[in-house]
Amino acid sequence: MIAVTGATGHLGRLVVDELLARGVDPGTLAALARSPDKAADAAGRGVQVRRADYTERDTLDAALRGVTTLLLVSSDALGERVAHHRNVIEAAAGAGVERIAYTSILHADTSRMQLAAEHLETERMIRASGMPFVILRNGWYLENYTENLGPALEHRVLLHSAEGGLVSGATRADFAAAAAVVLTSDDLVNEVFELGGEPPFTLAELAREVSRRAGFEVEPRDLPEEAYAAVLIDAGVPEPVARMLADSDRGIARGELFTDSGDLRRLIGRAPTTMAEAVRGAVSP
Ligand SMILES: NC(=O)c1ccc[n+]([C@@H]2O[C@H](COP(=O)([O-])OP(=O)(O)OC[C@H]3O[C@@H](n4cnc5c(N)ncnc54)[C@H](OP(=O)(O)O)[C@@H]3O)[C@@H](O)[C@H]2O)c1
Repeated sequence: MIAVTGATGHLGRLVVDELLARGVDPGTLAALARSPDKAADAAGRGVQVRRADYTERDTLDAALRGVTTLLLVSSDALGERVAHHRNVIEAAAGAGVERIAYTSILHADTSRMQLAAEHLETERMIRASGMPFVILRNGWYLENYTENLGPALEHRVLLHSAEGGLVSGATRADFAAAAAVVLTSDDLVNEVFELGGEPPFTLAELAREVSRRAGFEVEPRDLPEEAYAAVLIDAGVPEPVARMLADSDRGIARGELFTDSGDLRRLIGRAPTTMAEAVRGAVSP
């Protein structure tokens, strides 16, 4: 039995789709969700939907019964993720899970990005659990950009704080495909994959691609970290999120969201969707 947590989130849904597309019998697949009613589509396809809340240990113990392979999709609750993940890891070890995969962040062991700390601690807890593991160190989603281009298109300025740093961004669908390959490859054990798209791009190159597609110039403008965070807060982004985004851009400037490992391409067996292709899909001329 394969189980996927966060199965009602963007990535988790795509992983379930990908597993079914790869021929996994829906009866041997469990979609774990804190709100099972949001997983009606999976249930309709014969997938077992089980309630699993990262904050309620008993729901995790029950949901993981009979599970041999687990994908822990990282929680979206910044600052609470270690507690959430500890509950899942302890429940998985108790339930006899034979292999656990986890969606971490690129270079979790060396990155100085704020976001990396909770991922690194989760990786440590997984290793300490003794369960065989696969760490999927995902790079930036291209959707972080393509789903948030409204202000840049409106003001014709793409603000950032990443200098000329390179981003090895890839689509959620490609990261989901990599996760599905891992979940269905029992021989992948105690491996760490650094997953990123190709070719890498700077924020100036992203702005150029958006301009080409939009038919007018969108100017890239690099701001100091504090100034960038202040603009985001002014625009209504909650302060912790704004600070995390500005901090992440500083990580990009340091090269922490770049990889040339080729791991994503190798796992999915094809070239990942490029930034230019994703922009073409997101911006109407
Ligand atoms: N690499 C990147 O660029 C990037 C960007 C954003 C996020 N991330 C990370 O990658 C993860 C997956 O991305 P995504 O786009 O799929 O995010 P998402 O759509 O926000 O999905 C997060 C999932 O976590 C679930 N969740 C949150 N709290 C929970 C709890 N207490 N118990 C059980 N489930 C809980 C949510 O459940 P509900 O469906 O009920 O809300 C949702 O299914 C995120 O959670 C975050 O850690 C990575």
